Amino acid sequence: MYMSTDEIREKFLQFFESKGHLRLPSFSLIPKNDKSLLLINAGMAPLKPYFLGIEEPPRRRITTCQKCIRTPDIDRVGKTARHATFFEMLGNFSFGDYFKREAIIWAWEFVTEVLKLPRERLWVTIYEEDDEAFEIWHKEVGLEPDRIKRMGKEDNFWEIGTGPCGPCSEIYFDRGEEKGCGKPTCGIGCDCDRFVEFWNLVFTQFDKDENGVYHRLKNPNIDTGMGLERIAAIMQEVDSLFDIDIVKAIRDKVCEVTSYEYGKDAEKDVSVRVITDHIRGTVFMIGDGILPSNEGRGYVLRRLIRRAARHGRMLGKKEAFLHLIVDTVVESYKNPYPELVQKAEYIKKVLYNEESRFNQTIDVGLEILESEIEKLKKNKEIILNGEIAFRMYDTYGFPLDLTKEIAAEKGIIVDQERFDELMQQQKERARAAQKELENAGWKDINIVIDEDIETIFVGYDTLEQDAKILKIFLDNEETAYVKEEDVCFVILDKTPFYAESGGQVADKGILEGEGVLAEVLDVKKGPKGTILHKVKVLKGEISVLSSVVAKVNEELRLATMKNHTATHLLHSALRKILGQHAQQSGSQVTPDRLRFDFAHYEPLSEEQIIEIEKMVNNVIQQAIPVEKIVTDLDSALKMGATALFDEKYSNVVRVIKIGDFSMELCGGTHVDNTGQIGMFKIISESSVAAGVRRIEAITGNKAYEFILNTQQTLKQLRSKVKASTDSEIISKIEQLENTIKALENEVEKYKLLVVENELSSLFGKAVDYGEFKLIVNRKETDDMDYVKLLTDKIKERDSKAIVLNIIQQGSKVTILMSCSKEAVKKGVDCGKVVKEVCSVLGGKGGGRPDFAQGGGNDISKIDMALQTAENILKDILKGSAQK
Ligand code: ALA
Repeated sequence: MYMSTDEIREKFLQFFESKGHLRLPSFSLIPKNDKSLLLINAGMAPLKPYFLGIEEPPRRRITTCQKCIRTPDIDRVGKTARHATFFEMLGNFSFGDYFKREAIIWAWEFVTEVLKLPRERLWVTIYEEDDEAFEIWHKEVGLEPDRIKRMGKEDNFWEIGTGPCGPCSEIYFDRGEEKGCGKPTCGIGCDCDRFVEFWNLVFTQFDKDENGVYHRLKNPNIDTGMGLERIAAIMQEVDSLFDIDIVKAIRDKVCEVTSYEYGKDAEKDVSVRVITDHIRGTVFMIGDGILPSNEGRGYVLRRLIRRAARHGRMLGKKEAFLHLIVDTVVESYKNPYPELVQKAEYIKKVLYNEESRFNQTIDVGLEILESEIEKLKKNKEIILNGEIAFRMYDTYGFPLDLTKEIAAEKGIIVDQERFDELMQQQKERARAAQKELENAGWKDINIVIDEDIETIFVGYDTLEQDAKILKIFLDNEETAYVKEEDVCFVILDKTPFYAESGGQVADKGILEGEGVLAEVLDVKKGPKGTILHKVKVLKGEISVLSSVVAKVNEELRLATMKNHTATHLLHSALRKILGQHAQQSGSQVTPDRLRFDFAHYEPLSEEQIIEIEKMVNNVIQQAIPVEKIVTDLDSALKMGATALFDEKYSNVVRVIKIGDFSMELCGGTHVDNTGQIGMFKIISESSVAAGVRRIEAITGNKAYEFILNTQQTLKQLRSKVKASTDSEIISKIEQLENTIKALENEVEKYKLLVVENELSSLFGKAVDYGEFKLIVNRKETDDMDYVKLLTDKIKERDSKAIVLNIIQQGSKVTILMSCSKEAVKKGVDCGKVVKEVCSVLGGKGGGRPDFAQGGGNDISKIDMALQTAENILKDILKGSAQK
């Protein structure tokens, strides 16, 4: 009857495929869209939306083999034959399709016909009120009533947290009297190893909410779970899940790497089994993208790894060893989970990293903890204080549960209340650190960084560095991988990238690895000595703990360094020329230019600007070495280094000393010799606030380009004004100015002549109304200035003239009318006339009696409009005409 684990798994899935089920691969251990669950803990967990009817399943019958993690019984792992934190669960599921009858009959068929388990060794339990299940087991399957045990809600009602649940029926295998505890009460449900429950059939009828209320589901469902390791142990006739084929291989490997012979020492055997169990879970968790951390899933993983590491210590293993077992785990599981093969190297790295970090502190930690426990024992006390548990956690990396376990082994309890309090305080400190990040101008990131993560900045000495990816954050979540196009935040163990600070902008550049290319978009200081790189993945996949070469864009960095050193020179020159008050109040250094704000009460004169420029260029030309001295703050100040009052300096400071000319505290990057700056040119001087001036300047190539451009402009100017030398340009321009003036005078004269001519012709055509006359200026023009000039000239010649301008501009007509006071007295009202005229033209107009304007669009009515004006005026001025 022996059957390998791989065979059982495959036979189960095939069996249910033959019953119309769709086979799906195992889901990830990380639940999707399920906040109620940290890790997948049952075959049905990833299928909850189908059970609840929230989502439509791809088929109403599904079968899976699901990887699961459960930790509530972690302290029993290794001590019993059947407890594990990692296991596989075989399941068949019905979403509103078949129900109890088929579930029971098929389970029986599989167990007796496929696995061929002898029926006399099989027992079942049902929920005490479930007569229907009893009938099916008894009548249809033919099981004798004394083999069908009714159990209470405690045993035969299946639920895990919230969600789908219901009464269940379990199948047991009797391993034989000799495996039992021998107590008279021994039977189904006994805690000994005789009767093994291996398959649970749940008749899912309810949805349990957060308040513990059961809601009946519209369609009853079926959820079954068969523990693969348990059934394998039965099929392979071994005593414990640690003896089945795929697990034993791992157990053997654990013994091999710890040089321990299994079975020699009962206590050490427990340690072997603990490691054997935990290594499986950790391999799968890391493979699914979980990373060790102090919270959530990451905490479960950390706890398993550190627990396993401690058991390694108990087997006398001093160095990190868990990674050495990974290949064996992969070998055991590669058939159903082929993806593990590609991930093996990565999993080893994560494991090694986590274990070696813990390794550095575990011995000291254990020693302290054990001596504390000893002290308590001596004093006959049983409570370990919260401070010590917190120190174990914070300094020595002992997850609280591990400390609790070690203490419990000696009958000691941990004061968790105090521990929680200290933990809370630490969280608040982390929040403050997050604030720092926000203050640094990165609002788009909200992450928690472990206390012990640090980045070493190597960018003063090199622009290229082999580095290890320590952390990746995508959408504020720590993650194991990022792929092409992702924009994420990365922390390296070492970096040459300068993070924006002290006014100097961040470096740009790339991260390069095997098949990987990412662009570094921005770099900022994170909390606790970390440097965060904002990165866009251009090619491949970046994963945590992989190696990359971090390369800073050299050209940009060099340009930035020139500007930064030049900023120090400028600062010093300003104080020497303008006075000591001219202190820095702000600064920005980019590859393109430097911007420097300083205290000063008035604009700088041309001469001052030149003097400053000259002084700075002079220092540049002297090619003075730029010294970078790392010292303590006191010594730096004693040396006379300039410090900025609003800056916070730590006790270790960097002094940038340029001969006798400048000495400043500064963390920025600088050239090694002022000669590298090449040239310094001020391009603007302005005011930013009362008493604060701003200078913008360029150096190096930018200054050279500036000269080139200026020269180009001059050259063009020279050719435009036909000067043979640059100095001739000015006199040429003066000549041109004189010529223009003379021409303008000439034009003015001609204009007047033209006006005179036009006036004569207009007056010749005037309509007379006695002492008044109407002068109609009707023409097509855009030159309204000329129209106004003409109007003035008409009035100059005859103050009583009434002027009516009818100006056509394309398809539009503009009317401008004005008259003298006398005409107004006689009753002329330009406003009224223009209004009438414009309405004839299909438009609008109006104004004062002596001046009005308007317009219209109907140019065909211009004659009529003119006629209208003449008629109105004639009516009004009749009297004058008679006079
Ligand atoms: N969901 C059921 C269990 O895990 C089958 O036991």
